Amino acid sequence: MHYSDELIEEIREKNDIVEVVSGYVKLQKKGSRYWGLCPFHNEKSPSFSVNGDLQVYHCFGCGAGGNLYTFVMNYENYSFPEAVKMLADRAGVQLPEQEDSREQRMQENKRSRLLAVNKEAAKFFYYQLRTPHGETGYQYLKKRELTDETMQRFGLGYAGKNGAVLVNYLRSKGFADEEIQEAGLANHSEKYGMVSQFWNRVMYPIQDINNRVIGFGGRVMGDGEPKYLNSPETPIFDKRRNLYGLNYARRARSSNIILCEGYMDVIAMHQAGFTQAVASLGTAFTSEQALLLKRYTDNVLLAYDSDGAGVKAALRGIGILREAGLAGKVINMQPYKDPDEFMKALGREAFEERIRQAENSFFFEIRILEGQFNMADPEEKTKFHREIAKKLCAFSEEVERDNYLTAVAEKYFIGAENLRKLVIGYAAGTGLARPAERPKSGVRPKNNPEENAKQAQRMLVTWIVNEPAVYGKIRRYISARDFTEELYRKVAERLFQELEQGSLRPAGIISMFENEEEQREAAALFSARLPGVENGPERDKAFRDILLAVKKNSYEYHVSRMGTDVDALSRAIEGKKALEELAKAHISLD
Ligand code: UTP
Ligand code: MN
Repeated sequence: MHYSDELIEEIREKNDIVEVVSGYVKLQKKGSRYWGLCPFHNEKSPSFSVNGDLQVYHCFGCGAGGNLYTFVMNYENYSFPEAVKMLADRAGVQLPEQEDSREQRMQENKRSRLLAVNKEAAKFFYYQLRTPHGETGYQYLKKRELTDETMQRFGLGYAGKNGAVLVNYLRSKGFADEEIQEAGLANHSEKYGMVSQFWNRVMYPIQDINNRVIGFGGRVMGDGEPKYLNSPETPIFDKRRNLYGLNYARRARSSNIILCEGYMDVIAMHQAGFTQAVASLGTAFTSEQALLLKRYTDNVLLAYDSDGAGVKAALRGIGILREAGLAGKVINMQPYKDPDEFMKALGREAFEERIRQAENSFFFEIRILEGQFNMADPEEKTKFHREIAKKLCAFSEEVERDNYLTAVAEKYFIGAENLRKLVIGYAAGTGLARPAERPKSGVRPKNNPEENAKQAQRMLVTWIVNEPAVYGKIRRYISARDFTEELYRKVAERLFQELEQGSLRPAGIISMFENEEEQREAAALFSARLPGVENGPERDKAFRDILLAVKKNSYEYHVSRMGTDVDALSRAIEGKKALEELAKAHISLD
């Protein structure tokens, strides 16, 4: 799976980053860039910028950044070849035929091998369920009122009692024992050899947002332990970053997403027409999953079990949603245990009504809290009110806090003024309820010389790539050696080379770097915030200040290395000369 650099560049240039990103993130044009809410961290005001001229993106909040490939890889969780394929398809570029010989398949990277073995296993389980050997499983699912269509849609399958069959099947498809093990499908033991991990269970393939099987959940027939056995974490199965059913829910065109606890809940909900239902993967709901949901909706409804454990999990989930900037509501399942049972008993319309009545997560929390205090006892009642005040402090926005305060005071017959006093008292004591700190954007005043120097280097590069004509005016003063950070120097080298040749392609420069960390650093070099001054002497001065700062830092850097680096002396001398010249020179940008 190796494509030439030219082809990779061609595909990149035939796709417009603004168009592609717009498919995922709502962007708004401001000045020469597009801005939106960053899909890679939680934020309320946009600090995610896409530059159409340079074909790069950068987030001033979390530092995410790169070119088109980086974006697609991060957003879709694709490997590089997968991103190339998707973007080639999008732009109508024909990729050279890849012969799918066994040799080549063996050479493919690990991720795609693991995906392939999972896919093959899913097929195997799927067919097993539909043979006489799978009768137990099929009858079980029928008894749980799943239609054939639903079983097919979710690719449900069955792992039989003979654990050797799967292993032999996968071997016959060209998979090595190590691969089967690494996918978590079988274990090896001295005594028994390769033994299938799943045994006498109905199998739920777990798919990522792109419908690829990344793992399995297997439910035992009857009352065995554990009830559900899940694939272990593998390089392709990250339980924190995927959700069961999200591949369908993301296309559900619903204004909300319903978060359930179990696989079976999701399936029952989808069967009833609620195709926006998802569940976490046998582990507690995570902040990564909350951010994933936030890409698709602002409105998450919790449909957790109505028992004590479910309520506890819901309270935890609410906190995580809130941290991700999602409000969340809670659907009441009473008197049934979970969405699956509810749906069977009362059906679709009744559930729709429950969705309409879903309780605001704050009131849900307060209601659960209330149950812990004896309201007949003034002492306990006061404690309850204090707890409410404490919770109110968590709202950083004053208007929001006040709205909740008024509402909760009314609902629980508390004097609003008294409650307000409690809140103020509590906030003053703990330092809570201050205005939320806004993520600072742009130039951060830091008294860190190293960071300042890097900042000046980023600004200089950003300025040059946005206005390549200035390069001609300064090329005699500057060289890649003035960039004191290794990665910066590499970028500058390539950049100046391209400028000399008159073929500047900043987004292509990012592709020089293989690892993600380096790509984001390179993108940051093209995305610095520049002083917003109009053309004229002030702007000339701003530019000169940046250039001088870079030269000065470079000079000091080389001076400091004169003891150890033989070239440093000559560089320092050169630098000194350039600094002096520069001090006299007049650089006009117009
Ligand atoms: P539940 O016990 O509520 O399962 O666990 P359920 O979905 O209602 O199962 P049925 O209806 O009895 O078939 C909820 C989720 O917790 C995880 C699974 O993801 C399950 O869907 N779980 C539960 C496990 O991972 N292991 C277990 O042993 C039990
Ligand atoms: Mn259940």
